[in-house]
Amino acid sequence: MARLGVNIDHVATVRQARRTDEPDPVWAAVEAELGGADGITVHLREDRRHIADRDVVLLRQTVGVKLNLEMSVADEIVNIAREVQPDQATLVPERREELTTEGGLDVVRHRDRVRDAVSRLHEAGIVVSAFIEPVADQIRASRDVGCEAVELWTGAYAHAADAEAFEKAVNDLQAGIELGHSLGLDVHGGHGLTYRNVGPIASMRGFSEFNIGHSVVSRAVLVGMREAVRQMKALLERYKPRETGS
Ligand code: PXP
Repeated sequence: MARLGVNIDHVATVRQARRTDEPDPVWAAVEAELGGADGITVHLREDRRHIADRDVVLLRQTVGVKLNLEMSVADEIVNIAREVQPDQATLVPERREELTTEGGLDVVRHRDRVRDAVSRLHEAGIVVSAFIEPVADQIRASRDVGCEAVELWTGAYAHAADAEAFEKAVNDLQAGIELGHSLGLDVHGGHGLTYRNVGPIASMRGFSEFNIGHSVVSRAVLVGMREAVRQMKALLERYKPRETGS
């Protein structure tokens, strides 16, 4: 069964709405862990619109499961990551020009900058994943610049307007998983996954990790973070890929 990384950025979004000290994402991480999260994910944005430097430092000291830092390839953020030493860094686009057509980082176009960031993160012992579209050239480029993993953008799946778009999205993800594995990459998925749509993707063979944020935090507002994570874990368990008998 794939690991569940819980993205708690939007706990910090609520805090920043009033520039106060609550709710604390560090408390949310504790609750997420108690609910069964396999990882805690945060995005330290260059504009610090939600997660702050202090959050990342405290999370490194308190999170007992995998800490995954989503980040741009900007020097300032790479330097912070090298100091904080999350277990994994996931490179994401922050500016329009760093995007591919839909949602992922354009590793093909920014190959040199990404390679440089990957090698500086590796020097600090951090495993690196790239958040990309399920497109062959992006997957190959991610491997070529040294990433250990790719996180395939699941937005096309999550936002599919009809059965045809849904089928194409699933096929693209399946092809991405197979290519990633053939290149020795670990394959993760994320973006736009919810309690309602996670079933079919959780049934796909080959994803080792899902990072889910907005939907879990939204449910946590109503039922508490621990329960919200428990419910998402239960769905991943219910829909996990079936063993193939020999
Ligand atoms: N994975 C990555 C790389 C992301 O940037 C995000 C959004 O911060 C997520 C997963 C989570 O997306 P969502 O909030 O839509 O679940």
